[in-house]
Amino acid sequence: MKPVNIGLLGLGTVGGGTARVLANNAAEIARRAGREIQVIHAAARGLGDQRPEGTDAVEMTEDAFAVVNNPQVDIVVELIGGDSPARELVMQAIENGKHVVTANKALIAKYGNEIFAAAQAKGVVVAFEAAVAGGIPIIKAIREGLSANRIQWIAGIINGTGNFILTEMRDKARDFADVLAEAQALGYAEADPTFDVEGIDAAHKLCILSSIAFGVPLQFEKVYTEGISKVSQDDVTFAAQLGYRIKHLGVTRATDNGIEMRVHPTLIPENRLIANVDGVMNAVLIMADKLGPSLYYGAGAGADPTASAVVADIVDVTRSLTTDPDNRVPHLAFQPSRINDTPVLSMDEVETAYYLRLNALDKPGVLADITRIMGESEISIEAILQKEPPKGETNATIILLTQRILEAQMNRAIDAIQQLDSVSGEVTRIRVESLSSE
Ligand code: HSE
Repeated sequence: MKPVNIGLLGLGTVGGGTARVLANNAAEIARRAGREIQVIHAAARGLGDQRPEGTDAVEMTEDAFAVVNNPQVDIVVELIGGDSPARELVMQAIENGKHVVTANKALIAKYGNEIFAAAQAKGVVVAFEAAVAGGIPIIKAIREGLSANRIQWIAGIINGTGNFILTEMRDKARDFADVLAEAQALGYAEADPTFDVEGIDAAHKLCILSSIAFGVPLQFEKVYTEGISKVSQDDVTFAAQLGYRIKHLGVTRATDNGIEMRVHPTLIPENRLIANVDGVMNAVLIMADKLGPSLYYGAGAGADPTASAVVADIVDVTRSLTTDPDNRVPHLAFQPSRINDTPVLSMDEVETAYYLRLNALDKPGVLADITRIMGESEISIEAILQKEPPKGETNATIILLTQRILEAQMNRAIDAIQQLDSVSGEVTRIRVESLSSE
């Protein structure tokens, strides 16, 4: 059988890794795909004489559209990242009747609905395994492996850089900027690292997971997004004293009123497996009605792990080249005509438990005022921890753990607590998830 021809857009960390993996494992990959897979054309800027491993025989260009418009190319692999020109290139590739493989989570999260509709109309596949959790085959697991189940919720550590930073803060009390610089040097961080530390990258990925779990359109703008940049060393330490770890989680849950989509720092019990996922590793915990809990763990970033997912998609697309377009795995797991409009809940409508840290005068009645406000707001307190004021100071740190309550009710209680004369500054709030099977 004639080889399958790949056009590669981008030869950076993931693009270079993809060329290398295809070359290193060519024989094994061909045994699986049933055909040779060869990169024939690649677009990259500023390479000079430096050619990544596996690209010696590849025609090089700086013009990505030349690759997309090359009639010899069967599959376009988009590894440039970002919105533009990735979006235009992918739409042009589809228009040209080419299949597409991409690792671009921002592209899928923001423009996936239009991209999949165009691909459907043209009878081509757009595969995006590497867009979520790097090398972990989580898209395949949800779309195919769990297709018998109603998915109840998903909670994932889906940004390697953020997890690397939180792990180093906990284990080595290292400086935030210093750890971020290391993640950048290792090729884990996004081109704009605020995407990692402010939760945007995780929000892109969560929105994709939510759509394929619940059969709803991609709605990136509805994801509640909070990053790790305000997590302090104090909170990491207090959480540990209470038996918790702070992880940056993406959570999506089907409730009776709608779907939750949220990304934020979260306290999780330290004895959960997912609480022990450290460094750049990712993990996705899925609660499904028939299987129960299942946990998917692996490298969430880096050249070879991400290339592993990209190449798996290339193999998948190769196998499906001769199949009937109407009988392929749907892009969003559910048949396009059966995608529904279940509402997405605002953060005010989400129910979760809370860790609160506040600074208050160390004198009689202060704690009583705080617990009175909680009682009036119908918030049940699970645990209280008070730290003595440092010598010579009059303010103490108070930590409260609450039971589950509607976020809107918690916001009202926090406002009232902040208005107490005895409380200084803002109340720090971190959400708590038990992630139990019940
Ligand atoms: N910046 C991302 C991360 C890369 O750190 O997880 C993989 O998407």
